[in-house]
Amino acid sequence: MAQLWGGRFTKDTDKKVYDFNASIGFDKRLLNEDIEGSKAHVAMLSKCGIITQDECRSITEGLDRILEDVSSGKLEISDKYEDVHSFVEAVLTERIGDAGKKMHTGRSRNDQVALDMRLYTRKNVLAVKDQIKELLCTLLDVIEKNTDTVMPGFTHLQKAQPLTLAHHFAAYFDMFRRDHSRLCDIYERMNYCPLGAGALAGTTYPLDREMTASLLGFKGATNNSMDSVSDRDYLIEYLSALSIIMMHLSRFCEEIIIWNSNEYRFVNIDDSYSTGSSIMPQKKNPDIAELTRGKCGRVYGDLFALLTTMKGLPLAYNKDMQEDKEAAFDAMDTVSACLDLFTGMIATIEFNKDIMRSSAAMGFTNATDAADYLVGKGVPFRDAHGIIGRIVIYCDKNSKSIEQCSLDELKAICDKFDEDIYEAISLKTCVDKRLTKGGPAKEAMEEFIREARTFLNGI
Ligand code: ARG
Repeated sequence: MAQLWGGRFTKDTDKKVYDFNASIGFDKRLLNEDIEGSKAHVAMLSKCGIITQDECRSITEGLDRILEDVSSGKLEISDKYEDVHSFVEAVLTERIGDAGKKMHTGRSRNDQVALDMRLYTRKNVLAVKDQIKELLCTLLDVIEKNTDTVMPGFTHLQKAQPLTLAHHFAAYFDMFRRDHSRLCDIYERMNYCPLGAGALAGTTYPLDREMTASLLGFKGATNNSMDSVSDRDYLIEYLSALSIIMMHLSRFCEEIIIWNSNEYRFVNIDDSYSTGSSIMPQKKNPDIAELTRGKCGRVYGDLFALLTTMKGLPLAYNKDMQEDKEAAFDAMDTVSACLDLFTGMIATIEFNKDIMRSSAAMGFTNATDAADYLVGKGVPFRDAHGIIGRIVIYCDKNSKSIEQCSLDELKAICDKFDEDIYEAISLKTCVDKRLTKGGPAKEAMEEFIREARTFLNGI
């Protein structure tokens, strides 16, 4: 047990207390950020004349060596240290002597950990943005190839109106595009450096906080020292954004699972993204989609854990805040794995276009268009709605679709029907006529694709 704060203690910490308190088991993943932050801090200390240039050089070299040795496996992050910050300082001091003890001048672990976590989260936001871009590119490829692939659109999971696979995927494209833009917003808002806030009330050393901030690529230093060490809003915002991403993935997965079912057969998930059953030889299960749907709950849980941890905390730092890390890391790891696998699954999935089309041809997806046809012949919409309703009952009884009825059968219910009804309610017409911005018609989708390509090229 090696503690930074042993001075005022006369007894050793109880072993159970020590273990309960320690965070090294999970904050060791902040090693890179801890060292990056410390290097910026000592560069600033030296520039402000608080430590000498030699001390700064020796600390910086020592820190670089620690990083190298941990990466190469020569140095192990041992749990005899309380946290990653203690580990770095202890090893550094062991290696370079007294200069190592000056690294922490004008700093507290409270602003140090706030910085480390921000640096880590900032990188993760960028990585998830890249993953979302990758997914958007994959979706757009499917969209471009499927502007003619007619399928039923659903409300209440009941066939509603015909649209295209491109149009359906474009809906998800827009959801993930919003996710991307949410990540950009979060990045901007969190991009301020808390270092220099000290334990809570700043420091008496003449630090140049803006210098540290700029060395670390931040837009500036945070405003208030108490808020700097106790703010976890940026993590909560990020976990909210990750939760929304998971909600989108989960909805998409639900559809893929339905489409992959024996009853629908709209898609075949590639063998490489499916799993089998130990007992039922015929099975090919959509496990990746189901796990992604399942892991959505886990990320919501992480968000709620953090929100709940924060809700009663007085200013400024409280040890409760150490609990932010496992929840945040878990959410980041989960989302990154889900995005990766989901994108791979979509890139390799096969669409059964004939089955989609024949499904759209059944289930009266052209009923609205049939009503609109009668409106065109001068029937008020509400009456047309009733007439087509009666035709649907007739078709249901006789097991046929509207376009399978002869003109005589249709005229028997309403004499406004003419030969041109068949053209008016063909699947092609139903889709092509929905030309308004955001609609499924090929022309509208081509406009969407142009704009989406430009967007993807710009991010
Ligand atoms: N491991 C701590 C955390 O993650 C570091 C800060 C410790 N500060 C303190 N005052 N004990 O929050």
